[in-house]
Amino acid sequence: LIRFFTPKLLAGQQVLVSAGPTFEAIDPVRGLTNLSSGKMGFAIARAAHEAGAHVTLVAGPVSLPTPRGVGRINVKSALNMQKTLGVLSQNATVFISAAAVADWRPADIAVQKIKKDGSGQVPTLGFVENPDILAGIAQTARAQSRALYCVGFAAESEDLLAHAQAKRVRKGVPLLVGNIGPDTFGQDDNALLLVDEQGSSELPRASKLQLARQLVAEIARRLPNPSP
Ligand code: CTP
Ligand code: CA
Repeated sequence: LIRFFTPKLLAGQQVLVSAGPTFEAIDPVRGLTNLSSGKMGFAIARAAHEAGAHVTLVAGPVSLPTPRGVGRINVKSALNMQKTLGVLSQNATVFISAAAVADWRPADIAVQKIKKDGSGQVPTLGFVENPDILAGIAQTARAQSRALYCVGFAAESEDLLAHAQAKRVRKGVPLLVGNIGPDTFGQDDNALLLVDEQGSSELPRASKLQLARQLVAEIARRLPNPSP
């Protein structure tokens, strides 16, 4: 029923959403990842579809069902995710970066499983920084004069407003959404802080689906040519 009563605020929009963690391999059986259930990103994809958008979801490893009517591509590593989003963002009008991208990946992936040698020696891991996917996509769209409305998320442990505003500017995106903690990971509800050029506003604690629907409305009214 929600389909008939939801205003089609995103009709005609091509919405791309990233969600979940990335997984950075160490060897064939091990890796490092971030804490992220993917619930917020999946809820946003669902809400954007309800609002009449054409929605594609690029998901890291999560165990969540694909929202009805949403296209989904599964990825693993940050580099994987970057490549997939880079291609899909060419045709998108809105990009919502809800994924918890690993900031670093092991410098080398061992081809074979790393074995204990019995001496008690531990392996040393070197790391390299992953690319900032969101900043790169926003910058490419700007360079190509494409109207792509980019939305970032911020996970912070302190001073959310200041960090979120600085992050928004650094990434060159019009809207950054902060999780008002503590401990939103894997929970079904959350509260959000919206930070844009005008300042900030709060979406009070609610289910992730309710918040996703409100966020979609907030994005829709910020788009350059709002649909009627
Ligand atoms: N992000 C990204 N690529 C990365 C890291 C983050 O696209 N390599 C995106 C996330 O999807 C999110 C936003 O950038 O929308 C902010 O992520 P966050 O981890 O909070 O910021 P970082 O820039 O990684 O800074 P830090 O973790 O040091 O606070
Ligand atoms: Ca990070």
